[in-house]
Amino acid sequence: MNKRVLRIVLAAICLLLIAEIMASASATPQLPKETEAQKAQRLKWWTEARFGMFIHWGLYALPARHEWVKNRERLTNEQYQKYFEHFNPDLYNPREWAKMAKAAGMKYAVITAKHHEGFCLWDSKHTDYKATKTPFGRDILKEFVEAFRAEGLKVGFYYSLLDWHHPDYTIDRFHPLRPDKEADYEKLNAGKDMARYREYMKNQVRELLTNYGEISIMWFDFSFPGKHGKGRDDWDSIGLLKLARSLQPHIIVDDRLDLQDVEGGWDFTTPEQVIVTKWPEYKGKRIPWETCQTFSGSWGYYRDEYTWKSPAQLITLLIDSVSKGGNLLLNVGPTGRGTFDQRAQERLKAIGEWLALNGRSIYGCTQAPEEFGAPPNTVLTWNPESKRLYVHLLAYPLGGLWLKNMADRVEYIQFLHDASEIRFRPGSGAEAKDLWLSLPIQKPPVEIPVLEIFIK
Ligand code: GLC
Repeated sequence: MNKRVLRIVLAAICLLLIAEIMASASATPQLPKETEAQKAQRLKWWTEARFGMFIHWGLYALPARHEWVKNRERLTNEQYQKYFEHFNPDLYNPREWAKMAKAAGMKYAVITAKHHEGFCLWDSKHTDYKATKTPFGRDILKEFVEAFRAEGLKVGFYYSLLDWHHPDYTIDRFHPLRPDKEADYEKLNAGKDMARYREYMKNQVRELLTNYGEISIMWFDFSFPGKHGKGRDDWDSIGLLKLARSLQPHIIVDDRLDLQDVEGGWDFTTPEQVIVTKWPEYKGKRIPWETCQTFSGSWGYYRDEYTWKSPAQLITLLIDSVSKGGNLLLNVGPTGRGTFDQRAQERLKAIGEWLALNGRSIYGCTQAPEEFGAPPNTVLTWNPESKRLYVHLLAYPLGGLWLKNMADRVEYIQFLHDASEIRFRPGSGAEAKDLWLSLPIQKPPVEIPVLEIFIK
């Protein structure tokens, strides 16, 4: 072969290679691109809302001893079947739920369309393991979305990636039928086909995001890569996310698809049952976040659970989240009759009473600029639009408190709950730059009093 021919052949090979690379790149799914400002705009309603209701409801409401009961007690489908056969929440009235959520001051609600047990609250075409096939016979989600929308709340769906009922879902380390012996995994999983399960999930997500009107949040749960675990490839996370975004372009999606490092792979992070020490960051940048929390430790209805948080603790949790730039998604686990536990109702009511008077320190608020220091036993929030600073008095002080370095910053101060003036004066000597705020000796009749400070 002469040199010229050789060059032509080489060039042709190069061209082929380039074409190959381009083809494989376009086969890699692309998630919609957006700028940081566009994302902030898409998340705006959610960021301002600050407070939502999580609802965990499924067959596990019947055993009433945790939504992981099937896993904890290693129950087979047959052993678990009695809950399906007796599922009949005759008192289910989502309009009452929606009214309670609204009265509690919540602005959105996320319900478990399907939890790990695999039971579906809607009339899915792709399974018989659904509410409409139980004695109850109704499409729970349909009634739910209508009722919550009617109260002006945004609606979201939680969808479990795990499925302890589907025949093609392979047995992993969290599965109720996980073997004790390592060698048995393979045997147990013979004949199971995750590709079929992936297809099933896509079909279901398509139903959920097509048949129920505008869905504002998609809460996928959860990934656990590693040995006998599952991650992005097991779920086809990119495919699921692309599907969700194509069906509902404005949808807000959590970060449990195992796509943390993928651009556009998540919208917010989800610290669960913890108090974050500071505003969570990714690659040095503050990111949107929402902490999900239970009243009592279990997500599903748990009759004999007694570690219920008090109203003051729950209100503090909300204030604390906003003071670090985040949201609170507070969970209710309805009973097998379809009602909210009395203990949940009492707490929702107490939070709602507090928010009715003090909501201005929560909605649309965020972490206060660093120049404002929090006096002892207080938590600060800040409304960047109105330029008001909120001081939450967690422990009510005796007679007043000092605001450091604020002498020339303050225009006016009042209690938020009754708009009564708080008088203030600068200190003297070493405290000349500080302000002394005079407070009544008696704590006002609100769970956590708030000072509203108009900044100059
Ligand atoms: C966990 C649990 C689950 C619960 C969820 C809520 O991942 O598996 O039961 O639904 O957290 O965040």
